[in-house]
Amino acid sequence: RSQKPKKDVPASKPRGAKAKKAAEQDFLKIVLGASGGIGQPLSLLLKASPLVDELSLYDVVNTPGVAADLSHISSPAKLQGFLPADDGLKKALTGADVVVIPAGIPRKPGMTRDDLFKVNAGIVQTLVKGIAEFSPKAFVLIISNPVNSTVPIAAEVLKAAGVFDPKRLFGVTTLDVVRAETFVQEYSGEKDPSKATIPVVGGHSGDTIVPLFSLAKPALQIPADKYDALVNRVQFGGDEVVKAKDGAGSATLSMAFAGFRFAENVIKALKGTKSETEPTFVYLPGVPGGDAIAKATGVDFFSVPVELGPDGAAKAINVLEGASEQEKKLVEVAVKGLKTNIEKGVDFVKNPP
Ligand code: NAI
Repeated sequence: RSQKPKKDVPASKPRGAKAKKAAEQDFLKIVLGASGGIGQPLSLLLKASPLVDELSLYDVVNTPGVAADLSHISSPAKLQGFLPADDGLKKALTGADVVVIPAGIPRKPGMTRDDLFKVNAGIVQTLVKGIAEFSPKAFVLIISNPVNSTVPIAAEVLKAAGVFDPKRLFGVTTLDVVRAETFVQEYSGEKDPSKATIPVVGGHSGDTIVPLFSLAKPALQIPADKYDALVNRVQFGGDEVVKAKDGAGSATLSMAFAGFRFAENVIKALKGTKSETEPTFVYLPGVPGGDAIAKATGVDFFSVPVELGPDGAAKAINVLEGASEQEKKLVEVAVKGLKTNIEKGVDFVKNPP
């Protein structure tokens, strides 16, 4: 059969220049750390998504195999795998629209996310230097822990290179939101737990994570004697997985789900279609609406629900004002921990060890 298009096919309807440009643009996604526990299932979800046109996988090991395997899936995304040799990072990053970073070591039992700093700080710094050089306009989604410090590291690296756009840098805290939705299901009355909207604010470790159950939609009916345990479970839910995996790492599959949910949302916003407002860890003074939250909390980096648009973070929503007194106290505790974590990240770049 001839594959040639028929000559008499009518021209498509003319559309607005902006919509046309967005629809025609190829969206190139990159996963840095693509061969890992999170990287592989996240790459699978991205490859399966009809929203992704191109997928570049970069890691220090195994990307040719992961890319070859995923390339047999019958979805539109074109796939390439890169290793550090032969300018792999440069090739992977050049022209990227969205870069997701789940590179670095995960926790073992007894470790806090802060214990990962020593190794992961340097990995994130190196990768973000690459972004600054080869894809300075990309949206950067950081999964590598400790997020409370790795996002400030990324910001400092981008600032030093003169390409920092706070609207394009996100710490991925979606797993905390996903956990909150799941853990309170019996009180939300939702058959599908993801239908509940629960703002989880602050940071991404232990008591810096603050679920604002009082602002959940639909409203939650949490018995008073269950409240503390639920907050604690959202804050330390990651430990359940670390313990159950018994030395084999931390959350990977649920994180891939959460990372994909956030990445897909970012791509939708980039493409100019409707996206969900979800919490993410951002540099508040650089995001519209963020200044007031930075002033109220006393920290520059904080996770709040953020509206996304084609240029990135379009608006940080100040949900803190509506929080209960109990939740405001939890935010105070979170801010103390966050200050130390943020300073540690900034200091790592400004005063190298
Ligand atoms: P993993 O050890 O299974 O995979 C990490 C991957 O990163 C490996 O394939 C490794 O080769 C690669 N890598 C190491 N150095 C690299 C470099 N310089 N460039 C590119 N790739 C490099 O670890 P896993 O379980 O996938 O976790 C990754 C990170 O995500 C950890 O830091 C973990 O703590 C974090 N994490 C974050 C969560 C969040 O909610 N934001 C939730 C769960 C984990």
